Amino acid sequence: MLKIKNKIKSFNKKIFIEGDKSISIRWALLASQANGRSVAKNLLRSEDILSTLRCLKKLGVKVKLHKNKCEIIGMGINSYKFKNGTVLDAGNSGTLARLIMGLLIHSKKKVKIVGDSSLSKRDFIRVIKPLEKFGAKFKSNNGKLPIFIDGTLNPKPISYDEKKGSAQCKSAVMLASLNTMGTTKIKAKKSRNHTELFFKHLKLPIKIKKYKKYDKLFLKNTNKILPLKYDIPGDISSSAFFIVLTALSKNSRLTIKNININPSRTGVIKILRLMGIKIKYNKIRIYKGEKIADICVESAKTIRSINCPAALNSSAIDEFLVIFLIAAKAKGISFFKNLSELNQKESPRLKWGSKILNLIGIKTITTKDSIKIYGNPNLKVDKKIIIKDYLKDHRVFMTSVIAALAFGGKWTIHDKDSIKTSFPSFLKIINEIKK
Ligand code: S3P
Repeated sequence: MLKIKNKIKSFNKKIFIEGDKSISIRWALLASQANGRSVAKNLLRSEDILSTLRCLKKLGVKVKLHKNKCEIIGMGINSYKFKNGTVLDAGNSGTLARLIMGLLIHSKKKVKIVGDSSLSKRDFIRVIKPLEKFGAKFKSNNGKLPIFIDGTLNPKPISYDEKKGSAQCKSAVMLASLNTMGTTKIKAKKSRNHTELFFKHLKLPIKIKKYKKYDKLFLKNTNKILPLKYDIPGDISSSAFFIVLTALSKNSRLTIKNININPSRTGVIKILRLMGIKIKYNKIRIYKGEKIADICVESAKTIRSINCPAALNSSAIDEFLVIFLIAAKAKGISFFKNLSELNQKESPRLKWGSKILNLIGIKTITTKDSIKIYGNPNLKVDKKIIIKDYLKDHRVFMTSVIAALAFGGKWTIHDKDSIKTSFPSFLKIINEIKK
């Protein structure tokens, strides 16, 4: 449990953020299929990644975690060695559970995937459906965990129309294509493209045609993946909490070093800029296909409300809870729409976003896929607020901390350990900023 009683004072700091979660998981899964020794620096050391490494070890992969690097010794495509009936625990990680399914459909050994109580409430039909078309068989609890996979040695390439903008579903199918003879075709609504960039960098057989709202991917099987040295950039989703804290604090300024600003992830920056927040990129560079920069942000003078373009949803999907805090302080009514996917996350986040805002005295109107936020530029909070029973959703915890530090009030926020899922050093960085 964490208690916060005071607003944060003005600050002017430089910080580093831990490695990107999506890139860390993808690096580990691809390294496990490579031939030889892959090494990652700045791999995120959060529970989601530790679950990934534990699952890989259970599948017979050699994993060594050193103080400042992680080594994975892959034995090649489809080389996992495990006993029939092996149980893999994906913990809280939807990305791990869904992506690894794409690799497991090629095994003749049966495997079961389980997860924690939050992951066990989430939908897996979205990934079972396309993977079944390759020829694998699945048993699930009505589309939820636990899932039993009965793989196929003779997978057939599929054509898949991914309509939700889910990078997890797209990536699961991409990983399945690596060991499937023939051409797997994916038409995917725009979503984060880290897997594509890894495939290109590793020179795997992928062709991409880009259209305005979707991409078409053409993927062929391969028999070898080269091992991969990777210096993982900082996570923009974790940075978003500090960007918002700075924007909402008086006379403050923050530089966040070495952050992944892949355009498929920077919806939060675009939305905040539309709302009048000043954010600059410095030292922009390209690393293995990924765009990286130092992000500089300063206190907002005036905040405009927004009718948020739905086209930005997928590139900001993990950041909406903190974006809503900016809308709470905006002049006018903000509207965020087509967001049913937000309720498919670690907790129903549209509901939790609106709950936090209501607790601090902001009026909201929510439907099953939208939220209207009645901003108040003079917002001040001085009452007691308790946040609990939110399925330990790490982003609900961190959003509440930012709200407490930005708006004031006497907060009691339960389940502090939830930050271990994605951002274990979150509170340490808050303390660094407070110094
Ligand atoms: C992720 C994709 C997104 C995102 C999640 C990470 C990924 O989920 O919310 O935190 O690494 O592919 P969906 O694919 O369900 O949109």
